[in-house]
Amino acid sequence: MTILDGKKVSNDIKNEIKQQVDKMIAKGEKVPHLAAVIVGNDGASLTYVGSKVRACERVGFESTMVRMSNTTSEIELLDKIEELNQNDDIDGFIIQLPLPRQINTQKVLMAVDPSKDVDGFHPENFGKMALDMSTFIPATPFGILELLDRYGVETDGKHTVIIGRSHIVGRPMSILMGRKGFPGNSTVTLTHSHTKNITQITSQADIIISALGVPNFLKAEMVKDDAVIIDVGITRVEDENSPKGYVITGDVDFENVSKKASYITPVPGGVGPMTIAMLLKNTLLAREQRM
Ligand code: GUN
Repeated sequence: MTILDGKKVSNDIKNEIKQQVDKMIAKGEKVPHLAAVIVGNDGASLTYVGSKVRACERVGFESTMVRMSNTTSEIELLDKIEELNQNDDIDGFIIQLPLPRQINTQKVLMAVDPSKDVDGFHPENFGKMALDMSTFIPATPFGILELLDRYGVETDGKHTVIIGRSHIVGRPMSILMGRKGFPGNSTVTLTHSHTKNITQITSQADIIISALGVPNFLKAEMVKDDAVIIDVGITRVEDENSPKGYVITGDVDFENVSKKASYITPVPGGVGPMTIAMLLKNTLLAREQRM
């Protein structure tokens, strides 16, 4: 069994990006600038955005965190997005999700200039991705592809089962794994809350990508021998013995599933750090496209 070490690979990617930034600086060019908008005080979202800002510093990017209150109106957020669209110094920006309920997420994502949409959530970019056109691929799916690529995990002709059909992970992943090329050329099954007999489906999978958000959902008896397991779950589970009062728990019963798997991502240290590295990569691409 091989651990797909997202922490190590994401560090390699950040070092590669840092080298590119150093070259830009040496040539007197502007360095990439990422902005992240966060609305409200959700602890997990604040942690994620904090990590994104720290990652920018680490590779030499400029970063701006825009904090808006929980009571922000849709109009106020749309105005802020327009300001970021117009600001020539900002190469790319993201709106951290989820948004408070008074705000229509779809409307907000459609307001982002597609050329600055480094999350790849705008319908124009999502459509381009589905049509194999060059675009920003959403960071978490992009990170999973990169991890499979760097470990040389075979996907061609394999049966990939995806658990969860979110717009951020499951849906784009189902498109990407079925695309022509590598990683891709998989036969894809997309499962979700209405799927019947999920164990029957997962136990036939060569590759399982779980993005459900239910701790320890995927058990050893749901997995065949030598399957490749990608765990996208990052749920905070209360734990009195941990300094923070919670532990981050994946969708996969790692202890037992890892005994059967050929490759598996740990949580934490698997897909999570890859997401941040690929957001940086998209921001670098955004800067290069603006030159
Ligand atoms: N919330 C959970 N994952 C993501 C992500 O990849 N991007 C943004 N903007 N919000 C998220």
